[in-house]
Amino acid sequence: MRKPVIAGNWKMYKTIGESVDFVKDLRARFAKVDHCDVVVAPPFTALRAVADALKGSNIAVAAQDCHWNKEGAHTGDVSTSMLWDAGCTHVIIGHSERRRDHGEKDEEVNKKIKAALGSQLFPIVCVGETLEEREAGETEKILHRQFTGAFLGLTAQEISRIILAYEPVWAIGTGRTATPEIAAESHRLLRELARKQFGDEPAINLRILYGGSVKPDNVGGLMAQPEIDGALVGGASLKADSFAALVNYPRT
Ligand code: PGA
Repeated sequence: MRKPVIAGNWKMYKTIGESVDFVKDLRARFAKVDHCDVVVAPPFTALRAVADALKGSNIAVAAQDCHWNKEGAHTGDVSTSMLWDAGCTHVIIGHSERRRDHGEKDEEVNKKIKAALGSQLFPIVCVGETLEEREAGETEKILHRQFTGAFLGLTAQEISRIILAYEPVWAIGTGRTATPEIAAESHRLLRELARKQFGDEPAINLRILYGGSVKPDNVGGLMAQPEIDGALVGGASLKADSFAALVNYPRT
């Protein structure tokens, strides 16, 4: 059985003070949650304070990006060992906003994944097609390219530490969620790619999250799909009530 993951990607929101107040609230609300793993991804500046506020809790801390080098002349970048040092256990890699704003390529995603694994972090790796690509019938081709590029040279053991997130770019922050069926179709495709590259068991165990305008009112339908193992949530993860509603998604 794959344990679901509900992860909040805060993007470029919240000061240190706001972050700490927020996670103290979440910590109290989620004290008894064990049906899913909960992850929050604050901005870099708040990582240490959030990790301290969540010490000993059941909420994990993720960074939103990393560099692949251990250290060096890379102005503005943060290494995986620095993230570990700041209290992170997870790191989001290859988010479409990094690809869009910073021209991040599959090759860099691959290097970042390897660096994260080398620092004992769990990578949350994002893939997904744009609207243009979907309308041109290229979804499968794009997912194939992003998947094989990201996981080039990884072993089955390494893939077992990775969480994959399918985030169709046209659904991110647009209010336009993929239907559960559309999302599940892409998840099946990704799981099949995992099976081909890593074998049956790693593919069966791979947790694939859906991301893109997940809200309290659509999370139930998405989570009812056996192929969907959780959600990577932006906007609706920023308020305690809505994030709590997502973590406590309807279960039968
Ligand atoms: P959204 O963002 O939930 O605001 O659409 C999702 C994401 O970018 O991870």
